[in-house]
Amino acid sequence: MKERIIPVAVQSAAVQGSASEVPSAERISLCASADLVDGALAVPFDVVLAGQSCRAFAIRFQGTAHAYLNRCTHVAMEMDWQPNQFFDDSGQWLLCSTHGAAYQPGTGACGGGPCTGGLVKINLTESDGLVYWHTAYNLKAPEF
Ligand code: FES
Repeated sequence: MKERIIPVAVQSAAVQGSASEVPSAERISLCASADLVDGALAVPFDVVLAGQSCRAFAIRFQGTAHAYLNRCTHVAMEMDWQPNQFFDDSGQWLLCSTHGAAYQPGTGACGGGPCTGGLVKINLTESDGLVYWHTAYNLKAPEF
């Protein structure tokens, strides 16, 4: 379900009469909050980043939901080693299945291995038992 959200910047611009120059963002329902369990399987979803279709995933870590593009920074490959399985056995790291890069679940920062930077983070919010992801200027929902 898509829902148009008017960011604060747009609201301010609207007051100034230039809202058409500022892109709006959308929040898109992703899953029930209960579907994201700490350190457990991810919920996958599709996005369009800079015009390119990509996979993304949402996880919960230390109580907070996070989402990232499913693209390793070492080589641009999807990372899950089993479908929707990104956490290591300790539940403390997100691992890339190809060469073992480790990312911090709360930030996406590279924590070890051959990664060359952090994962691309996607904004999430939760309200009334639902998780939403948010579009950005270069991040869109796929057209169906
Ligand atoms: S592709 Fe992920 S560690 Fe090499």
